[in-house]
This record gives sequence, C-alpha cells and structure tokens, in this order.
Amino acid sequence: MTESNSSSGVFVAGTGSYVPEKVLTNDELATLVDTSDEWIVTRTGIKERRIARDDEFTSHMASAAARKALEQSGTSAEEIDLIIVATITPDTPTPATACHVQQQLGATKAVAFDISAACSGFLYAMKIAKRMIAAGAFENALIIGAEKLSAVTNWSDRTTCVLFGDGAGAAVLKKSGEGDGDIVATEMGSDGTLTHLLNIPGGGTACPINSENVDKNLQTLSMLGKEVFKHAVTRMKQASEAVIERAGWSPEDIACVIPHQANLRIIDAIADRLAVPNEKVFVNLHKYGNTSAAAVAIALDEAHREGKFKRGDKIVLVVFGAGLTWAAAAIEW
Ligand code: COA
Repeated sequence: MTESNSSSGVFVAGTGSYVPEKVLTNDELATLVDTSDEWIVTRTGIKERRIARDDEFTSHMASAAARKALEQSGTSAEEIDLIIVATITPDTPTPATACHVQQQLGATKAVAFDISAACSGFLYAMKIAKRMIAAGAFENALIIGAEKLSAVTNWSDRTTCVLFGDGAGAAVLKKSGEGDGDIVATEMGSDGTLTHLLNIPGGGTACPINSENVDKNLQTLSMLGKEVFKHAVTRMKQASEAVIERAGWSPEDIACVIPHQANLRIIDAIADRLAVPNEKVFVNLHKYGNTSAAAVAIALDEAHREGKFKRGDKIVLVVFGAGLTWAAAAIEW
C-alpha cells in the first residue's frame, strides 16, 4: 500500500541512536563457531556487532536513543504525545516496551504502545505516527526501533549468529511549520505466506516456553538465508521505486538512500537497481550487523549527524524483514 501526501505536514524534528559498549568481532565469533572473518566479510560486509550487557534491556537502549532525539529536536519528554517502539525483542511480553520507555523518560502524558514488524518496524511506526499527527490526533510522536537480538540468537548456529547485533534508534516527528521538511510518501507491505523464511518459532502460544523447546533452541532466530535474500532485493527495490515515483522524484534528485542494514550484497543490489551511486547509499552494518528494527533508525541518525544530507534534501529510507514485511519512506528533510 503506497500513500503520497505532500500536504501531510509531518517532519522529522530530531534523531538519536545508542549502541552498547561491548564489541564482538568476527575473530571472536570464530572462537565460538566454525566461521572466519573472511567468510563473514565476503558474504555480508559485517565486521563487528555490539552486544548489550545482561542488565541492559531493550527499553534501556530505546530510552538512551530517545533522549538524544528529544534533545536534538528541542522537545522535553513531558511534551511527547505518542511513543511507538518497534521491536521483536521486548523487555517483557506485556506490558509494552514503549510503556517502560515512557516511565524511564518521564513522558507522563504520552500514549505508548509497541508494534511488531521485525526489521520493517521503524518505518511502520513512522507511517502510523505520521498519519496520527496528520489527522490531528497528536502534535508529535517519538518513534523508536530497538532490539536486543543477542537474547534471541542461537550462539551455536553459524548461519545466523554472525549476522545480528543490539542497539536502538529514535526520531521525533512533529507537525510541520513554515520551512520544515515533510515525510512526502510512504509505502508498506506484508506477505504472510512467507512466515517460515525468517522467524522465532518458540515463546508464543504456538510453541510455549518449556524446557523441551528451550533445549531445541526454539526461542532463537531461524532463517532460510538464500530465500530471504531474493525477496529482500525484490521488495526493497519495489518499495523504493514506489515512494520515489509517488514523490515525483527521479533517482538523481536523491541525496541519500538509507537501506536496512542486513547484508552489503543486498544493499549493493538495491543501489544498482535504483541507479543510485554507491556513495549516496549509507552503510554502517560493518560496525553493528543487522539490528532489525533498530538498523534503519541508527543509520538515519548516523547519516544525519555525519552531514550526509541537510535541510531540504531528498532522502529515501527502505527496509525489509520477517513476516515478510517491507516499507519505504521518501522524506524531504
Ligand atoms: N561461516 C562459514 N561458513 C558458513 C557460515 C558461516 N558463518 N554460514 C554458512 N556457512 C556455509 C554454509 O554451511 C554453506 O556451506 P556448504 O556449501 O558446505 O553447505 C556455505 O557457507 C554457503 O552457505 P549459504 O547459505 O549458501 O551462503 P550465502 O551466500 O547464501 O550467505 C547469508 C548466507 C545468510 C549471508 C545470506 O544468504 C544472506 O545474507 N541472506 C539474507 C539474510 C538477511 O538479510 N536476513 C535478514 C533479513 S531482515
């Protein structure tokens, strides 16, 4: 489903991100499973990832990223109307991680809830928040992608454990005023016939937590990597093209493309198919691996703070994840 609404008047007022201190390198991983730095870098582009402390939860990382986004946007926590956390690794099944974040920030008047759309969650949250602000329900929103994937990784499975990491990214959205930017077009989609390609089979009602299921590692991420790869390229290309077309832009207008950070080969394939030069495509997965819902949010914040785009520039965000799900956004900064 694509939506173009240049008069929506909702812009990104500030961004923030947080990653845990502990670095886990490819060489360190090679002491845990039969892999090598060379294999991981060649197949994925990932060199290292961050791992949260045992006492550092998804909400703590989300709040740390949120504080930076609030500061950059000149907004106090008490002013925030809506908090949406996109995550597949909530602190607790209930209440929502967004409620833990609300408490940690002191965002006393906010409405807070989580969404589950895997790696696509941050852009799903962006669209939901944008529509709620544009409809007049709220003045502003704090959207966050936050994950502690190290808690749902099977550390003895070399086909998945080399890919994932922990972190959080956040953005404050506000109603646009004179001279502000705009979230010009958004696209989101899902294909529930492909749930089996990437999932955490255990921990829900279909396969509850018990010692037998935990012994089989069913509470950890499982993936058919090759299949996921093909769909990722196709769907991210389609979603990007949809928002670029609906925004009325051409590829040469775009200052920066910020894709989901899962695999450098996927990112290169998207850049190639969109005819956007590689230097305009932001990549930070070598430092963090795939942090699911947090990945594009962290990348947006880093690209912003590194000056990869400035006020008035046209940027495209595009993501893909379990579900399968995908989403894109065309933003005039
Ligand atoms: N280290 C060393 N060898 C490994 C390995 C590792 N970490 N993981 C797998 N291998 C082996 C396999 O066992 C296989 O060996 P075999 O040929 O003897 O059977 C070989 O490497 C090739 O494996 P394959 O799965 O075909 O590799 P690939 O080129 O498809 O790369 C992925 C694997 C996971 C990197 C790739 O498929 C991918 O990135 N897919 C998309 C994943 C993704 O983006 N997921 C998140 C979406 S949100």
